Parts: sequence; structure tokens; C-alpha cells
Amino acid sequence: MSSVTKHITEYKLAKEILTRGHDILLDPRAQVMKTFTQHGTTTVFEHCVSVAKFSLLMAYYLERIFKIKVDRDSLVRAALLHDYFLYDWHDKTIPGHNIHGFTHPRTAMLNADRDFGLNAIEKDIISKHMFPLTFMPPRYRESVLVTLADKWCALCETFKVDVSSYIIYRVNCRIEMANNGLQDEGAAAEQAI
Ligand SMILES: [Fe+2]
Ligand SMILES: [Fe+2]
Repeated sequence: MSSVTKHITEYKLAKEILTRGHDILLDPRAQVMKTFTQHGTTTVFEHCVSVAKFSLLMAYYLERIFKIKVDRDSLVRAALLHDYFLYDWHDKTIPGHNIHGFTHPRTAMLNADRDFGLNAIEKDIISKHMFPLTFMPPRYRESVLVTLADKWCALCETFKVDVSSYIIYRVNCRIEMANNGLQDEGAAAEQAI
């Protein structure tokens, strides 16, 4: 597969997320994010998949129109882990609940590095994704993309606008198939990209 596809579709975005992020998506530790609510009725897991989708979509246009290269592996992996803080931030009994917006990027980055190992770009993406709340601005273009995608997805989720249900469906199908020892075309394409 070439680095810049001719046309972008929901199918291609889903396949690329499944390909580049399959080890994270299929890991039970990442699936714990399904047990926590993010915005509205959206789980943290669904939110992260949605952020990965819009980060990739912006990367596609950045590469296609402006010929600016994007590290898509780091982009997808960090988008999938950017809210890997692993607690219910709505729970008012949790110490620091009121400053979750400021503190969770670093918590997520430390958790993700511990469980999956992160490179420098992935660390920057996760720890700066709440900019300007994080004060330090994003260092890499990939960090800027995830920061923007995160805000867009949060807005859509808060106002219950469905923008990612197909990709979330595909990801859940892939997880279900993996749990049953099956492969779909997304897994078969892992060697092709
Ligand atoms: Fe976040
Ligand atoms: Fe987020």
C-alpha cells in the first residue's frame, strides 16, 4: 500500500487503524477503557478509536495536499492510547477529580509507556493532547493532529453526533473475531501495509 492513498474512505481508515493499532486494540489492558465513560454515552475506548480515525483523516489531507509526511504508526498508536488513564473521571470520590483535565495526559502517558512502550513522538502526543491545558505546546505535527482530533471528537460526543460508529463497529468485530480465533481482511492486510 502506498503511503498516500488516492481516495480515503471509512473502510480504508478502519483498515489502517486495525493494521497499525492491532496489538493495542486486541490487548485486554486497552479494552479496560471500554468500562469507563468519556463523554455522553461514549466509552473511553470508543473515544480513542474515534480520535485515531480523525487524526488519520487529517494526516491524509496533510500528506495529499501539502506533501507533509506523517508518522502514521506513532499517530495511530498514541491516538488509541491518549486517554489511557484507567479510572472513572466522573467519580467525584477520586482524589484530583477536579483537575483531571490537567493531570490525565501525564497519567495516560505513564500507563501507556508501562504497558505498551512508547517512542518520543508517542509520548509527546499523549502528554500534550490537552493543550493548552498542558501549558507546553505539542512538539510534533502528529501531536497537533491528535490534539485537534481529540477536541473535535469530544464536541461530537458531547452533542451526541455520530461520526465514528462504523469504525467502532469494525474494531469491535475484529476484537470479537480475535477472541474466537478468527481473522478478517484487516488482519490479513497487516503484512500488506
Ligand atoms: Fe484526554
Ligand atoms: Fe481524548
